[in-house]
This record gives sequence, C-alpha cells and structure tokens, in this order.
Amino acid sequence: MNPAMNPWTRTFENALIAHVKSLVPVRGVLTEATLYALETPGKRIRPRLVEEASQLVSLASRPSRLLQFAVELIHSFSLVHDDLPCMDDDDFRREQPTVHKKFGEAQALLVGDLLFQLGMQTMLQASSQLAPQDFIRGAQFFTSSIGVAGLIGGQSTEFEKLGDKMTDKELLTIQDQKTSALFRASIITPFYWMGIGESDALFQDAINFASAFGFAFQIADDLEDAEQDGKAGTKNILSIYGADQARLMARTRLVECRLAKNFSATDLLLEKLCEQA
Ligand code: IPE
Ligand code: IPE
Ligand code: MG
Ligand code: MG
Repeated sequence: MNPAMNPWTRTFENALIAHVKSLVPVRGVLTEATLYALETPGKRIRPRLVEEASQLVSLASRPSRLLQFAVELIHSFSLVHDDLPCMDDDDFRREQPTVHKKFGEAQALLVGDLLFQLGMQTMLQASSQLAPQDFIRGAQFFTSSIGVAGLIGGQSTEFEKLGDKMTDKELLTIQDQKTSALFRASIITPFYWMGIGESDALFQDAINFASAFGFAFQIADDLEDAEQDGKAGTKNILSIYGADQARLMARTRLVECRLAKNFSATDLLLEKLCEQA
C-alpha cells in the first residue's frame, strides 16, 4: 500500500503546488520553506475525503478542489507547528527533516502561519460559486473545526494535561478534537455547501462516518507509533483498551457506518488495522 503512488494523489499534489504558487508571487525563504512543507510526501487523505464527500452530494469540481486545497493547507500548518521544539520537538516528518530543522524555528513558525492564511484564503475563494447562505454555514463549520473545540483546542488541552492524570474521557475528547474534527470538516463542509444540513439523514450518516473514521485513524496511528518507536508512557487509546480491543473497536465502528463503502480511505484504514494485527 503506497497511497503516494496513487494517480489521484499525484494530480492533486501538482494542482496544490500550482495553486499555492499562484497565491504567493513573492519568492524568498518563506515561500521556499512553505513549498517544502507541502511537497514532502503526505498521504493526502483529507482532500480525498473531500473529493468523495463532494461526489456524494454533487458539489461542483471547482469549489470541491478549493476545499481540498484548504483542508490540506490547514493540515500542513498543524504538522509544521506540531513538530516545533516547543511542541513535540520532532526532527523528522515524512522521513525528511522537519521545517524548523531545515529552515530554522522562526521561519517554521511563520510557515505554519502562512499555511493557515493560505488555507483560509483558499476556502474563501469557493464563495463565488455557492449560494451565500450555504457557503457561510459550511465556512463556519470548517473554521470551528480548526478552533478552540477543534484542532487547535485539542492540541492545547493535550499540552495542558501532559504529565497530569488525564482521564479516559479527556483523552478521547482531545483526540476527537485534534484529529477527528478536521476529518469532519473535510466530509461535512461539502454537505453544507450543497444546502444539506442536520435534519437530513444522509448528513447524520456522514457525521457518524467522519467520527468513526477519526477514531479508527487515531488507533491506526497509535499502533504504528507503538511499532516504530513505542512512545512509551504516553497515554493513548491503546493504553485504555489494549491494542487488540482497540483494533477490533476501530474496525467494527468503521464497517458499521452506512457510508463506509463510499470512501476509499476506509479500505486503506482497514488494511492498516489488519497489517498491524
Ligand atoms: C498525521 O496525519 C497527524 C495526525 C493527525 C495523527 P497523516 O497521517 O494524515 O499525515 P500525512 O499528511 O499523511 O503525513
Ligand atoms: C499531529 O498530532 C498534529 C495534529 C493532530 C494537529 P500528533 O503529534 O499526535 O501526530 P504526529 O505523530 O506528530 O504525526
Ligand atoms: Mg502532537
Ligand atoms: Mg507530533
């Protein structure tokens, strides 16, 4: 399994780089470091989820593509900041030196800031192609998923509780915010943009799938970490349920979702959860 070799992924990556170059006319170390952060080989799972959610609700290809870019830009911002010495202090990401290792800490901080700004600018570009009320509801959901009850809030609580006795419930909330929220943004924003809201059964199916996907993704990631460097002592879902039970829960919850088969990343995740068995 090498999702980076997938033709869809290649096309997406080329389009993303061209898009960013079109938005960043000024060349210099900030641009170089930003492109470096984006070009390292990621799996591009979130934009793929946007693509497939867009197909489900017939969102046009242009706003869908812009949302795919926006989600990947926000994800990249979170990774660059997450690796900084003041956060996880990691030297490598995607088997290559992290942005601060290559360009210094100050530039890496600013690369994260710029990726965030580009993500927001890109998401806003979709507005001209959508009904204003639908666009605003989707944009609000998208930005909330990144905020205090989403990615950034989850990261903050993780540091706040570090070394503290974190309850199981707190751990599950942190992971739901820092990881699952952006998966929900990827899947649900297309629904709002097509005027499909909470009262629709398909919307509820999509929320269930996105949350199950985030839960399973985190377990697969924790299993991989445990295999590679055994981040011993760090509380994660595996330390609550045990590896076998966690794997089983992740698989069961995922396959029980009505929309599981509509998303190719489900198979990728199930494969991963099997590989690690
Ligand atoms: C890694 O996400 C960060 C987490 C949310 C655990 P991915 O595994 O999707 O990272 P890339 O983009 O493929 O490198
Ligand atoms: C990555 O989280 C960043 C976000 C989820 C926002 P982690 O620190 O858990 O993941 P890795 O191991 O660095 O990819
Ligand atoms: Mg982290
Ligand atoms: Mg980290």
